[in-house]
Amino acid sequence: MIDRVDDGHLVLAAGIRLCLGAHLAGLEGQIVCSRLVRRFAYIQAAGPRSAVRP
Ligand code: HEM
Repeated sequence: MIDRVDDGHLVLAAGIRLCLGAHLAGLEGQIVCSRLVRRFAYIQAAGPRSAVRP
């Protein structure tokens, strides 16, 4: 069985190291978000901003 303690989400760094692909992943994220907004102009949040966990 694969298991782990829930320490919250990891994003691009969890311990002493930083993800070496962090800048590439950030760039990809920017491209995805801008294309998504351009393609679906009516896109909107499904809930209140307070529901988004930082
Ligand atoms: C959304 C995309 C990504 C997420 C969420 C992510 C997340 C992570 C995390 C959590 C770690 C471990 C950090 C630690 O040990 O504290 C890591 C390490 C690493 N990531 Fe990513 N990563 C992403 C994309 C990428 C990409 C695109 C590349 C390369 C093209 C990449 C290459 C690496 C490498 C080489 C390490 C090992 C760094 C080391 O051991 O010093 N990652 N990443």
